[in-house]
Amino acid sequence: MAGLVVAMDGPSGSGKSSVSRGVARALGLRYLDTGAMYRAMTWWMLRQGVDVADAAAVAARCGEPALVSGTDPDAPAIHVDGVDVAGPIRQADVTGAVSAVAAVPEVRRRLVALQREIVGDGDIVVEGRDIGTVVCPDAGVKVYLTASAEARARRRSAEVTGSTVEAQQADMARRDTLDSTRTTDPLSMAAGAVELDTTELTLDEVIAEVLRLVKERT
Ligand code: DC
Repeated sequence: MAGLVVAMDGPSGSGKSSVSRGVARALGLRYLDTGAMYRAMTWWMLRQGVDVADAAAVAARCGEPALVSGTDPDAPAIHVDGVDVAGPIRQADVTGAVSAVAAVPEVRRRLVALQREIVGDGDIVVEGRDIGTVVCPDAGVKVYLTASAEARARRRSAEVTGSTVEAQQADMARRDTLDSTRTTDPLSMAAGAVELDTTELTLDEVIAEVLRLVKERT
């Protein structure tokens, strides 16, 4: 029998990473951060000097880098051509460019195929934007996390030094619009997904709610 897949989708700052890792830890499952894969691809493009606004150039090169994603929720790891990029992919240049790269259909085709390979027989929590809709439409549990724009910006600015809540909110609004309106696999709630608004909840409360859902559905 195939193992459990928990699909965790939602906009940036909704708490996907912390919740996904907490759920994976509690259930002894693997964890895959698909956003990190789009970020790693973007990091490589920038390093190669590819103009990320040029979709044809991005499409032409996206088959080149070797991407390797770890699945340990306690130590999420990502390597590009053997280089550990876990730190650099969180920097502002990558964050500013990733939505453009993630909108290129050839990039998505390659990364979705890699993600499905990693998911394999399951026993994994997978976080992203299109997990319940595209990557794992048969996932046993699908969660769509949301939070108010202000709460999401507040959480993100606490993580990024030197950033104000207002600046984060403007940047996130720009990324959300790009991620939700792109033609290929936009962010949207999957059929059968349970929406969970985390604005007023603590991390432990959200994790407990997802664990309850998993129990109910398996
Ligand atoms: O979750 P994150 O902020 O690390 O994601 C980085 C970017 O990648 C974000 O702009 C949306 C995109 N992304 C995507 O298009 N599909 C996914 N499955 C995961 C992330």
